[in-house]
Amino acid sequence: RKVVLAYSGGLDTSVILKWLQDRYQCEVVTFTADIGQGEELEPAREKARKLGVKEIFIDDLREEFVRDFVFPMFRANTVYEGEYLLGTSIARPLIAKRLIEIAALTGADAIAHGATGKGNDQVRFELGAYALNPDIKIIAPWREWDLTSREKLLAYAEQHGIPVEMKHKAGGSPYSMDANLLHISYEGRHLENPAAEPEEDMWRWTVSPEKAPDEPEYVEIVFERGDPVALNGERLSPAALLAELNRLGGKHGIGRLDLVENRYVGMKSRGCYETPGGTILLKAHRAIESITLDREVAHLKDDLMPRYASLIYNGYWWSPERKALQALIDHTQEHVNGWVRLKLYKGSAMVVGRDSPTDSLFDPRIATFEDDQGAYNQGDATGFIRLNALRMRIAAKRKHR
Ligand code: ARG
Ligand code: SIN
Repeated sequence: RKVVLAYSGGLDTSVILKWLQDRYQCEVVTFTADIGQGEELEPAREKARKLGVKEIFIDDLREEFVRDFVFPMFRANTVYEGEYLLGTSIARPLIAKRLIEIAALTGADAIAHGATGKGNDQVRFELGAYALNPDIKIIAPWREWDLTSREKLLAYAEQHGIPVEMKHKAGGSPYSMDANLLHISYEGRHLENPAAEPEEDMWRWTVSPEKAPDEPEYVEIVFERGDPVALNGERLSPAALLAELNRLGGKHGIGRLDLVENRYVGMKSRGCYETPGGTILLKAHRAIESITLDREVAHLKDDLMPRYASLIYNGYWWSPERKALQALIDHTQEHVNGWVRLKLYKGSAMVVGRDSPTDSLFDPRIATFEDDQGAYNQGDATGFIRLNALRMRIAAKRKHR
């Protein structure tokens, strides 16, 4: 038996690596991905080698992540439960895909991950894996082993010579964090009390709005077929563009969120998120759609969006229904071309201008408050309103009978 482990190089997945070797007597292949979490990956290679791993995969997936997962999702203006921009949710299907690819490459029959049995991530990894390889075996150590506390985990690590960093030893267990090019998340510790405000020094990507610069800063984003392609006049790759938006948003205190959300497994959980670039991008995308999309198409997208968001949150990226929705969403983006200008200032990203030289549906001749030279016949509105009122007038008459 051979198993591919999604390996971060951190304490938990290092313990998992050792545990898999002992418990299953299997050969472990490690897979570590750069999806923009901003951590050195080479230490993971060293640690895996020390634990006797022969096949070590370290992949830079940043461009694929943004191009094939983040941007397609943003075409739908996706938001879960009114607030969450799905930073973790959207990365999981990519990890699942790569785990399955590596299993095929190395002849492994199983995959393993470090998500707990209480969360969403286990569902996302495993639904993705089964959708891409119906015969794959899945090992989720957190649901199996008896290392049920932090203490036991640390004891296991020390017993097996797995290096434990000071921050773990000191009991200052860090937040449960997850980061990639779209966001960084924090859960656990004192956030487990939803009444308690997050400590200021928890936030890593953004300054607090009150400490943001006193001068506003403008950004201009160019869209082609619904995707951002240039920033302030410079064409950038998907990953480079999102990274630059993160820098700008972080500097101006944009994109902090403190949320209690409904996990798919049934519990409520409190999480804090920083999504600076994504927050700007969502505003900008809605703005370019506002002049390029037909009203009914835009409203249809808004109707479908919460469904699409739940699919991604719940782990159904690789499902037939998500693909069908994506085809519809992508079709709507054909004319979503043009630019948007935003003003960044102390925690807000405000749209201040937009235009589409090729695809605008905005007709100033028709919309004007000045003389429209006959472009629009105001008399037409009389019949339009009378017919729309007809059923309400009939109903009102019944009331008065
Ligand atoms: N609650 C968020 C979600 O379900 C973030 C999960 C963070 N995951 C983690 N392993 N720390 O998408
Ligand atoms: C975990 O339980 O592994 C992290 C939280 C989540 O998946 O929702």
